[in-house]
Amino acid sequence: MATLFSLCKPISGHPFMPKINNSSHDTPLLTQNLGFNRNGYRDFRLKFEGQPFLRSRVSRCCDQAETLAEITNAFEVPILSNSEFIEKLKVNCEERKGKQSFLAMYSSICGGITTDPAMMVIPMDDHMVHRGHGVFDTAAIMDGYVYELDQHVARILRSASMAKINPPFDHEGIKQVLIHTVSASKCRQGSLRYWLSAGPGDFQLSPSSCHRSALYAVVIQDSTPLARNGVKVITSTVPIKPPEFATTKSVNYLPNVLSKMEAEENGAFASIWLDNEGYIAEGPNMNVAFVTKENELLMPAFDKILSGCTAKRVLTLAEGLVRARALNEIIVRNVAVKEGKSAKEMMLIGSGILIRPVLQWDEQVIGDGKEGPVAQALLELILQDMKYGPEDVRVPVTY
Ligand SMILES: Cc1ncc(COP(=O)(O)O)c(C=O)c1O
Repeated sequence: MATLFSLCKPISGHPFMPKINNSSHDTPLLTQNLGFNRNGYRDFRLKFEGQPFLRSRVSRCCDQAETLAEITNAFEVPILSNSEFIEKLKVNCEERKGKQSFLAMYSSICGGITTDPAMMVIPMDDHMVHRGHGVFDTAAIMDGYVYELDQHVARILRSASMAKINPPFDHEGIKQVLIHTVSASKCRQGSLRYWLSAGPGDFQLSPSSCHRSALYAVVIQDSTPLARNGVKVITSTVPIKPPEFATTKSVNYLPNVLSKMEAEENGAFASIWLDNEGYIAEGPNMNVAFVTKENELLMPAFDKILSGCTAKRVLTLAEGLVRARALNEIIVRNVAVKEGKSAKEMMLIGSGILIRPVLQWDEQVIGDGKEGPVAQALLELILQDMKYGPEDVRVPVTY
């Protein structure tokens, strides 16, 4: 079958064109075939009621039938009824079902909870959507308890204050909403993600038309088993956020996303940021720690990076290892790259991964290249803490 690439006359002269090259008043006109560009696409400039409308792209590698479908699709933009729109959302939700299930969502816009994933949407005019004016946090759900909920709520309130978002509820109010959302989800094992946003308003840069801030929360069930094996990390070439933004857990995670992608492109699990003085900072969604040759637990200071709830808890739990003489000391200070790379052990720490040993950083093998005893002991301590820890780290959910 002929490919577009092999067509010798302009595409507007081909038999399938009349369908779209119709000059009725409400049909866009294909006005100009701009030819193939450098990337192998054929560009068209379209006009609608005399106004430039859109540029359509057709790949040169598809055949005429596909091309027709693609062009026709560019024109078929139906106006959907409310029920059709909702139906489309449901179908889309079904199509992209993955390992995670979204069990419940709270929205302060609606003042309630939905358990239908297709309805878990937020308004387009929310300042968080179009300007990134929102903050978020995540807490783990373990055996029907939310782990370190107070610590995570306190952190989102700190982030909100940095982002000048006046929350719709206070600490206790947010906590109650979150517990109710977990209860409605019936989830006993998973994670709770929540956002505070400047709220819906208009599409301006200023939030002055955002009448009320918003709280959204989602409960996610994830069947992926906890990974314990060691990983490789690289040094990030994506610039680190300045301290004011790195210490705020805002939705502006583009550097974090790019840093994670850079790692994956290089066969690594995460990229490690260095701060403006060249000291070790953090990963894109985790903190880091080391065990030195002197058997000290060494963690970078938190003044330029996110103060991780898991890392803070690890510092407390590690005191048990000092008492048991498995560690000599716990130190929080600036850590030089040379020091980190020559450590006996390196680990990543965060609520998503808990503790993940690092076996290689760039070309440097860490320690003996195997998962180290301190990282493994700390992981067990965190898991025990999640299951049997004290009241101040385990908030029960009534189902
Ligand atoms: C940039 C960054 N650093 C560190 C962490 C670890 O924080 P936590 O232990 O509270 O999950 C996160 C968590 O998402 C993060 O995004």
